[in-house]
Amino acid sequence: MAQLPILKIYSTKERVAEELALDFIQYLKIATGKKERVAIALSGGSTPIFFFRAVVHLKPLIDWSRVQIYWVDERCVPPDHKESNYGVAAAEFLYPLNIPESSVFRMKGEEIPEKEAERYAKLIKDNLTTGEFSPVFDLVYLGIGGDGHTASIFPDQINLWDSRKLCTVGIHPDTGQRRVTFTGELINSASRIIFMVTGEEKKEVLHQIISKSDNCSEYPAALVNPRNGVLEWYLDEEAAGSFNEQ
Ligand code: 6PG
Repeated sequence: MAQLPILKIYSTKERVAEELALDFIQYLKIATGKKERVAIALSGGSTPIFFFRAVVHLKPLIDWSRVQIYWVDERCVPPDHKESNYGVAAAEFLYPLNIPESSVFRMKGEEIPEKEAERYAKLIKDNLTTGEFSPVFDLVYLGIGGDGHTASIFPDQINLWDSRKLCTVGIHPDTGQRRVTFTGELINSASRIIFMVTGEEKKEVLHQIISKSDNCSEYPAALVNPRNGVLEWYLDEEAAGSFNEQ
């Protein structure tokens, strides 16, 4: 039976970030108490920055030696480039929280993309427990673009979602920028997936995806459906639109 979407709607993107941060800290405290290795994957873009800052503000006491941090996707740029997802997370999250390098497994945007996709897929296979088909992340954070992309799989390359590989190379349709990215196989193998979506500009695509409108299958984000996991949506009222009236 199809799961009803779990929508968590808050007034502003700052409130979304606060609630995501509280959930993140509580989740890690429990998970690191149960497991010696908790594997999480972060997305890039601007929304996570609010989340990172909210976590840092709470000064959490986490046993980071039991946490492994990966990235869902990375732009093919050096780690100190302003567009590097790792670079932003390092400045806003990893360094302020003194997260040890041994807990951080960045995608190397400076490498040849196809080679890095292979390396990263092998790293994940070596480090994570494999479930029914693929390695299982404990927690994956995703965003959505206004065009319905997620990770770095864009509508004009939606075929990448069904790749048999765990990681592949996507191309931003406007800039041509290449990006290493998880595929649908790896994303949908996760135990818990959280979409963080804020802003009026996401309302239309979000509504089509959550209400499963006829054309939503054009959107890679609509294909997120964890096989044996939970999918949650953290939204602000601007993005939630009419869902906030139910
Ligand atoms: C990236 C992300 C991408 C992002 C969406 C939403 O590398 O850009 O992984 O999929 O999540 O584009 O980005 P915003 O949070 O900036 O709206």
